[in-house]
Amino acid sequence: MGRAKSQAKGHGLGRTPTHGTGSATEQRRGPATGHGPGSSPAKPDLADPRADPDVPQGMSVDLLQDLHLLTRDGKLNADARRKLKQIRHFVGLLRPAVDDALDRHASPAFVDCGAGKSYLGFLLYELLLGPAGRGTLFAVESRTELVNAATERAARYGHERFRFLDTAIADADLPARLHVVTALHACDTATDDALALGISHGADHIAVVPCCQAEVARQLAERTDRDPADQALVHHALHRREMGSHLTNVVRTLCLAAHGYRVTVTELVGWEHTAKNELLLGHRVHRFDDEARRTLARLLDRWRIEPTLVRLLRALGLDSCAPPDDPHRGHQK
Ligand SMILES: C[S@@+](CC[C@H](N)C(=O)[O-])C[C@H]1O[C@@H](n2cnc3c(N)ncnc32)[C@H](O)[C@@H]1O
Repeated sequence: MGRAKSQAKGHGLGRTPTHGTGSATEQRRGPATGHGPGSSPAKPDLADPRADPDVPQGMSVDLLQDLHLLTRDGKLNADARRKLKQIRHFVGLLRPAVDDALDRHASPAFVDCGAGKSYLGFLLYELLLGPAGRGTLFAVESRTELVNAATERAARYGHERFRFLDTAIADADLPARLHVVTALHACDTATDDALALGISHGADHIAVVPCCQAEVARQLAERTDRDPADQALVHHALHRREMGSHLTNVVRTLCLAAHGYRVTVTELVGWEHTAKNELLLGHRVHRFDDEARRTLARLLDRWRIEPTLVRLLRALGLDSCAPPDDPHRGHQK
């Protein structure tokens, strides 16, 4: 894992964060409410950001401010509220997967792909991995300045098992066996890179919330030799975009199923908060699923498409349409 930026030891607080109503940072500086030692705790302080239901309980208020999710005076602006809502829900939906990985493995490896500023990673770490005291979280992000900022931030808050990889997902140098892989709004085909990473590293759980997708809409435009009734569904550019995005996520679901994942497709938050709201959650329960492989092959042929995930997996020797070389290596449905 040569490219992982390690946090500067001794830099910042160098402590294990405490969780619950006040973090170590808050204890050091006093909570954002201004209640310091000796001040009267008599009446509840309505300015306490933790009184806001959208502020995750157990998160360091300092860290949320440092991430610009809370303003200096401890308020949530509309954008931050929307983002926090999404991430809080995502963390809630991921909790069973994280618990499962922690129950079954001594040092599970978690990977967040296309991490951006690592909002998700910091919440995951403070709320789940930090308190567990085990497991390593890797954030993979191709924008160096975001990786540098997140690396320094994690060091300041004592997140010793939070590592950052300044690289494209496809090039990430990660442990051979991963346990939980996530991608929240990883742009376009970066979601496919995350899925291919999770499947090829045998992740027990994979959770992605795809972002905008343009690739399949282009492929739908390039080939028109399909059944006229199907062609009518993608004749107009707007319909192609919608259908392209839908087909992409159906293909992603079938690829996961083909490799033995039981898949749940659900909304992340209400549609009023974001249009990029489809959550694909996969839990690996078999080695492969023949029916899903056959269905996927038919779907690709019927729509004359070949999305990135299908190509990536094939290049990795994991053809999602063909039966595995050794049919005895796993459960066949
Ligand atoms: C829309 S942002 C989402 C960031 C974060 N997951 C969130 O929800 O706040 C997508 C991020 O993925 C990163 N990204 C896109 N393609 C990538 C790739 N192939 N490898 C690594 N990072 C990638 C971008 O640089 C960007 O920071």
